[in-house]
Amino acid sequence: MNVIPRHICDTGKFSSDPEKSYTLPAHYYIDPEIYAREREAIFFKSWNYACHAGQVAEAGAFATCMVADQNIAVTRGHDGVLRAFYNVCSHRAHELLKGCGKANVITCPYHAWTYHMDGGLRTAVGQKKVEGFAREEFALKPVRLEEHGGFVFVNLDLAAAPLAGATGSLADDINGFCGNVPELKFAHRLSYEIKANWKTVVENFLECYHCSVAHPAFVDLVDIENYRTKTYGIYSSHISPPGRPDNAAYRFSEGLTRDFAAWWLWPNATFNVFPGPTNITVLHMMPTGPETTLEHFDFFFLEANPSECERQAIHYVDGTLQPEDIGLVESVQRGLHSRGYKQGRLMVDRDRSFNSEHGLHHFHSLVLRQLGDLP
Ligand code: FES
Ligand SMILES: [Fe+2]
Repeated sequence: MNVIPRHICDTGKFSSDPEKSYTLPAHYYIDPEIYAREREAIFFKSWNYACHAGQVAEAGAFATCMVADQNIAVTRGHDGVLRAFYNVCSHRAHELLKGCGKANVITCPYHAWTYHMDGGLRTAVGQKKVEGFAREEFALKPVRLEEHGGFVFVNLDLAAAPLAGATGSLADDINGFCGNVPELKFAHRLSYEIKANWKTVVENFLECYHCSVAHPAFVDLVDIENYRTKTYGIYSSHISPPGRPDNAAYRFSEGLTRDFAAWWLWPNATFNVFPGPTNITVLHMMPTGPETTLEHFDFFFLEANPSECERQAIHYVDGTLQPEDIGLVESVQRGLHSRGYKQGRLMVDRDRSFNSEHGLHHFHSLVLRQLGDLP
């Protein structure tokens, strides 16, 4: 058994009481050993967001996603069953599917082995001339899949407990604010390669303490004084009444005034309903290394072709909100290397006001619990 050096799991002044707690120490965001432990204990054991169920609704549809460095494919078989596999050829490991789409069979780009959409090997050129070649041995290797609340999740741990057993009323809450999650159509994806640890990026989502300072348009889009964060089991909600329809972010008509409502789901996905026409966006923050994160921001609307208002909302996120946040988290990541910083104080107030950082403490507790480092 690997012995973990003591300094690696030293949580310093982190406390189980959010009102007394300090942040995670800086090495949790930098150390390759911490990241190696997170890959195994968090990403390879948790339910990871894959796609919206509408993206894989038809027979032959597929979508791909990453779970840390593991490439995963979700397919709808011609028998109508949704399955997930490691997206790798059983011959000599070339990756198979790319992006999203529809196919009759899966064909490897290297030596053209073909697989059925249910993962079974269909043909391998020259197979009859190879002694003892057994097709059954080379089916794609399955991972767990669950449809939940109109979305598809995968889990590399074949023994994992079902996601639905851990999410309480989350799916109903999201649908209650959105109004129509299952019917929405994929409209747009924004992608960003961020030079920051995945936790730095998630944490930025979990508090609005920085909103008044860093997001002048966002605090006009929502009623910031009434923004509230609530934590539950493995998720948290972040909800605010809307601001003015003619706010500085993007305009929407009076009749489409709705709350800003967002949920973070362990470990790295958020589901957001913005003021304006019926919508849901999924912000997905996947580590690509100890200090790098690939972020996808997927927009789902009533129609795949965005309206003028929806285009403005995408433009606001891509041109303003994301650059504001990415600048912050990349600066924090550089700062975490400073010899002048070890561990900060969480600003958690008793009233859990709009500035309170209790959502971070909830997240830190889950990270430490999963790593076995909880003091
Ligand atoms: S690696 Fe796929 S067919 Fe050879
Ligand atoms: Fe932000």
